[in-house]
Amino acid sequence: MTTGKNTTSETERYANLIPMKEIQSIQDRLFPFSIYDTLRKTTPVRYDQTRACWDVFRYEDVHYILKNPKLFSSNRGVGNKQGNILKMDPPKHTKMRNLINKAFTPKAVNELTQRIQDVTTFLLDQVKAKGTMDMIHDFAGPLPVIIIAELLGVPTKDRELFKTYSDILVAGAEDGSDEAFKVMMKKRQEGTMFLNGYFKDIIQERQRSPKDDFISLLLAAEIDGEKLTEEELLGFCILLLVAGNETTTNLIANAVRYMVEDTDIQEQVRTNLSLVPNLVEETLRFYPPVQAIGRMATEDVEIGGYTIRKGAQVISWVAAANRDEQKFAQPDRFMLERHPNPHLSFGFGIHFCLGAPLARLEAKVALSMLLTSFSKLERVEHVELEPIQSPFVFGVKSLPIRLSL
Ligand code: HEM
Repeated sequence: MTTGKNTTSETERYANLIPMKEIQSIQDRLFPFSIYDTLRKTTPVRYDQTRACWDVFRYEDVHYILKNPKLFSSNRGVGNKQGNILKMDPPKHTKMRNLINKAFTPKAVNELTQRIQDVTTFLLDQVKAKGTMDMIHDFAGPLPVIIIAELLGVPTKDRELFKTYSDILVAGAEDGSDEAFKVMMKKRQEGTMFLNGYFKDIIQERQRSPKDDFISLLLAAEIDGEKLTEEELLGFCILLLVAGNETTTNLIANAVRYMVEDTDIQEQVRTNLSLVPNLVEETLRFYPPVQAIGRMATEDVEIGGYTIRKGAQVISWVAAANRDEQKFAQPDRFMLERHPNPHLSFGFGIHFCLGAPLARLEAKVALSMLLTSFSKLERVEHVELEPIQSPFVFGVKSLPIRLSL
């Protein structure tokens, strides 16, 4: 069977920012996994007319799509002028990625351990006496922003601004209506304009006096003997700020959200901190901060018996693939002992998350120190959780936690 006719090309390109009709209510957005499960079992590959895109839910198919950038391009016609490597294909992607690869190797990232511990201590000290904290606002939000701001070389005092604008850039449409789509697009344009202006000033400053930071490194870098254009520089800065921020916040907060729901797991990890890396990996699989990844078919290609036409948008549902029983035993159980754990939450293949070593380290330090600082973490009763306004990001806006010393 084939299909794949366009409605409006713009809506189509943003298909992963428009909620699918099955997941609209607050409750479904807080716990979408049984719906993904049903979709994976009943329509593992399907064309959604409303969002004008294909949805793919099975592990094997998602893996195949991410593994084949020649068939499934990351250049979906959105934001490419900005030089964002997430939206690039080889050979340009390879060259741009190589520029900053070295800064993110596990070895380079490990050197940040002390700084991450210091920032974590600082954040915990602020809440210890209070007995409660908002996991997002007081802890999981500021930690990655402070670290990435320091790496980039932008003032950490501006972190509230980064948070506001990166939230806007990952937000989706409120619902499937044209009106909601237009509001989202307007906010995204304003957010990009603000951050462009912000980084332009810092780039000019570093041009005059370079420092030991990413922006200076990018300014000095050359590809095939040519410096990066201003657009490429801005694209890189904004990507690093946005990609490394909300995602890591949600990883840390999603782990805490799970541990307050399942206090046995919380106790197991607290009494054996060597399990923290397992906690991080299983949280990534079970509550993935990034639920879906978009691509565009570069030629007619068959997936699960369907022919996806050249040019069609394809949304790969990592959150569904991570719970595919063909790949994971007891997929709906949170298992600290799961090994191997080949979740797709950092993507797969050439676009595999560049910041994965940093995100893992930040989460590991943050969760270990949180568990050793408090004998118990509990949900503050009677506070309803509110999901983040985005179909592809999984996380909550606020997570009030009661702390016992
Ligand atoms: C790519 C998830 C943290 C920087 C990706 C992709 C995913 C992802 C799924 C692949 C997207 C695709 O294939 O189209 C996450 C998650 C994180 C996280 C779940 C935290 C838990 C970070 C951090 C940074 C970062 C801390 C940097 C400071 C990037 C970059 C790319 C990327 C630059 C693009 C790589 C490329 O296109 O080659 N991330 N990310 N991420 N991530 Fe992350």
